[in-house]
Amino acid sequence: MNSLEYSPIACQSLQVTVVGAGNVGRTLAQRLVQKNVANVVLLDIVPGLPQGIALDLMSAQSVEEYDNKIVGTNEYEATAGSDVVVITAGLPRKPGMSRDDLLGKNANIVAQAAREALRYSPTAILIVVTNPLDVMTYLAWKVTGLPPQRVIGMAGVLDSARLKAFIAMKLGACPSDINTLVLGGHGDLMLPLPRYCTVSGVPITELMPSQTIAELVERTRNGGAEIAALLQTGTAYYAPASSAGVMVESILRNQSRILPAATYLDGMYGLKDIFLGVPCRLGCRGVEDILEVQLTPEEKDALHLSAEAVRRNIDVALAMVKDS
Ligand code: NAI
Ligand code: 2OP
Repeated sequence: MNSLEYSPIACQSLQVTVVGAGNVGRTLAQRLVQKNVANVVLLDIVPGLPQGIALDLMSAQSVEEYDNKIVGTNEYEATAGSDVVVITAGLPRKPGMSRDDLLGKNANIVAQAAREALRYSPTAILIVVTNPLDVMTYLAWKVTGLPPQRVIGMAGVLDSARLKAFIAMKLGACPSDINTLVLGGHGDLMLPLPRYCTVSGVPITELMPSQTIAELVERTRNGGAEIAALLQTGTAYYAPASSAGVMVESILRNQSRILPAATYLDGMYGLKDIFLGVPCRLGCRGVEDILEVQLTPEEKDALHLSAEAVRRNIDVALAMVKDS
């Protein structure tokens, strides 16, 4: 043999489509290939953008030593056969644009992305990242007609991770020793639950005064806004991408991790016909189980308040989506 001959090996690789090659989408794509979780198809509406990012990441393959591949595309056809689809496509709010304008624009982007991606990957599990998160997740479920277990919104992992970071900074503790739980919508009314937050099993209520805990809770609620104000252009993307990444990994590797995520509630927590952040077991079928943690009457009221805010925007978003 005087030349290298590679025999084609029939192997089945996992594939993730990431829609939106902006800050979150490209960072998520990088995480997935570098951790060898799956091959990635990165799609964006801007010609050349996903192709350029994919080529850059493929050029890093030998340096970072990963095997998974990434391709960039502007066509949904190239995403066919994906196991998971993550939607990060959307517009940021621009000066002069009302919240409703943004809601309408992102609703149409997410609806089109969800329909198109699922047309080519009919068995995929869909993870939504685009804001307003809980509303966009409901919309993606509605327009695709998928079983609710296969549509999941990413926010709780991020909000819980931010609370972990703030507790770790305050106590000088190791972040991976910390467990936190944040329920509710991804907005000002999210519900961090100090009673369920621990450092190596010790409740934080025994480690910090209640005033400090209240400050950390408030900082978590404003976590996205705090970073956006510092960045001045754009919003957070490293922790959001990592958070979506662990959800994808738990699904593709059937890890059954229990992670807070926006899931369809049909009576649990006293809520019906809404996507809202609660602890879910994520495995190869999507949401395998929903955990109903005990809430005090005050916590339950706060969760329902958060749900009402999401529900108001669902009606607005549904009215704005064009049929196609
Ligand atoms: P970005 O502006 O950097 O990227 C958005 C990308 O979407 C752009 O590349 C744009 O060209 C693309 N896009 C727009 N319309 C499209 C379409 N019709 N089809 C395909 N691609 C399209 O924004 P970034 O920072 O990546 O954030 C993306 C979304 O994720 C935003 O809605 C943001 O608010 C949300 N987000 C949600 C988080 C969460 O916890 N759920 C956390 C962080 C961001
Ligand atoms: C965040 O929490 C903007 O939702 C985004 O960073």
